[in-house]
Amino acid sequence: MNFLEKRILKDGIVKSGNVLKVDSFLNHQMDITLIEEIAREFKRRFDKKPISKVLTIEASGIGIAAFVAKEFGVPMVFAKKSKSINVDGEMYVAEVVSFTHKNKNQIIVSKKFLQQDEHVLIIDDFLANGCALQGLISIVESAGAVVDGCGIVIEKGFQYGGRAIRNMGYHVESLAIVDAMDSETGSITFRDQKND
Ligand code: G4P
Repeated sequence: MNFLEKRILKDGIVKSGNVLKVDSFLNHQMDITLIEEIAREFKRRFDKKPISKVLTIEASGIGIAAFVAKEFGVPMVFAKKSKSINVDGEMYVAEVVSFTHKNKNQIIVSKKFLQQDEHVLIIDDFLANGCALQGLISIVESAGAVVDGCGIVIEKGFQYGGRAIRNMGYHVESLAIVDAMDSETGSITFRDQKND
């Protein structure tokens, strides 16, 4: 079991509806020592790639991606969620449907901050159905840049996002993959991964 899985078992709370609450250390209150360890682990896993930019989506991805960008010594850009339909031509736009929140957002990144031929590492806290990640991938590709990898802190392996995105040929590294959880007993089952 790796450092993150241990922390999830210690402080994560399984809620009904297959929701894992990790707000005491990851996405509300943030344990910065843990985030630094997460960032070092992503650096180790993507070290061979010529990453020139880290991309994430607001809100919870930002704090994590900032530390990852520092490890790589590159800038971090976050996609903004926009309700407006009047997005000008200076922006890359993708549509993201959230199954959890049952809403639809446009996500936008200014063309100034994503150049053709850049090598992008996408970072996010959760991968569930993969809509946010697919939106970020589509933005990178509209810019003519390369997705060198996707680093996810917690993947919900029983939802289809991870499988779908790996099947499209992208390199996805998830530090913890939850294959099952039970809100009645509080039990969490992680997938065995060779990288740990
Ligand atoms: P998807 O992007 O993978 O398709 O995920 P989905 O629509 O199902 O999830 C929408 C939001 O809910 C995302 O955050 C995602 O990170 C979060 N989420 C999904 N499953 C869980 C879970 O089990 N626990 C927690 N804590 N969050 C989960 P978001 O709307 O982008 O929110 P934020 O980043 O602005 O906080």
